[in-house]
Amino acid sequence: MVQDWFRDAKLGIFIHWGIYAVKGIGESWSFFNGQISYDDYMGQLHGFTADRYDPEAWAKLIKKSGARYSVLTTKHHDGVALWDTKQNDLSVPKKTPAARDVLTPWVDAIRAEGLKVGLYYSHLDWSHPDYASIHHDNGSPFSHTKGPTDQEAWQRFLAFHRGQLEELCSEFGKVDLLWFDGDWERDAVTWKMEELREQLLAWQPETIMNSRMLGYGDYLTPEQGVPIIRPEGPWEFCVTMNDSWGYQGRDTNYKSSGEIIRMFCDCVGQGGNMLLDIGPKADGTIPEEQVERLEELGAWLDRNGAGVYATIGGLPFGHFNGPTTLSKDKKTLWLFQSGDPGDTIPIKGIQTEIKKISVLGTGQVLSHRKLGGAEWNRIPGVVWIERPTEFDKHVTVIQVDLAEEIELYRGKGEPVSVN
Ligand code: GLC
Repeated sequence: MVQDWFRDAKLGIFIHWGIYAVKGIGESWSFFNGQISYDDYMGQLHGFTADRYDPEAWAKLIKKSGARYSVLTTKHHDGVALWDTKQNDLSVPKKTPAARDVLTPWVDAIRAEGLKVGLYYSHLDWSHPDYASIHHDNGSPFSHTKGPTDQEAWQRFLAFHRGQLEELCSEFGKVDLLWFDGDWERDAVTWKMEELREQLLAWQPETIMNSRMLGYGDYLTPEQGVPIIRPEGPWEFCVTMNDSWGYQGRDTNYKSSGEIIRMFCDCVGQGGNMLLDIGPKADGTIPEEQVERLEELGAWLDRNGAGVYATIGGLPFGHFNGPTTLSKDKKTLWLFQSGDPGDTIPIKGIQTEIKKISVLGTGQVLSHRKLGGAEWNRIPGVVWIERPTEFDKHVTVIQVDLAEEIELYRGKGEPVSVN
């Protein structure tokens, strides 16, 4: 079930950390797609040192970004676990020079900062001998790719999968969010997803699950593209800062802080969360470009968080030229203005009386004039808001206090029949 904390949180930080950071290549997919052999990929185990890993510093940075939760890849499709799993030996503690469980200290540090803990886990495991990948027609030289499912092997794999999830759900305290991935090679019946959901809730009664549970999850996860049409129900947009989930030094195609903030405003304006990804290096340091963007986002949220946290999605398109949010009682409206609006800022179709308009961050009170319309005929005029004297360097948030719950005019326009 989606808990209130998740709806109110708005921002989470996703962390893809694994052996793929050693060479700076695509997480798991690079061997699956044949860019590198499986053996060369696994050779990266020897370079995963985590020798400058500072989970407290990570957690402080995440807190500073304004995020309220974080999700770490405990095991990606390559099958390498960050914790000391008892189900097999393919783990950071057993197979890398880091030689320790790197998940427990992360969970402790995240919790110590008052953030919610999210664990990413890939259902499919391209390294497990009992997991037959059914993508065998894409020309991939990946040697673990096999043919049809051997039923006995599949039962053994399910026991392994359940075993790892039991560890994740019992050895790390409260898991606020289980972020699944990799459900696409089998159907819900084969995965026994319904039974899995019940089992997970028995272990962690208050946990939330994302949608990658083939119909048994709690919320949708649009990936890499901000939804244009508002999704129904709770959702979270996951997105990379450059084009890579994990650390890839050659990838310098970063979105700017301003672009990231504007995407974030689009999400909250449509009632969603954003899960923004970082990819630490194999030594545990976070690339400078990523640190900068997290800090910039956090500074913007310090100024403008009142219009973001614990809000609900705002007005449908057409009323304001940009995203908006509303308070839960719908008596406060926030307008997200990026760029120069011109002399005045218009909002259309507002039936409700406006008490006050002010700029978050500077506190400047703005005057407004309602012009046109035919109120006796329930046709509202356009509200023209005074231009603020100072703008936020990214997105200026304007707070509109209403006398009562907002009421919108949603008509197509009609003749004034009462005069
Ligand atoms: C995709 C990819 C994966 C990435 C994930 C994040 O499903 O398989 O590499 O971790 O998206 O959402």
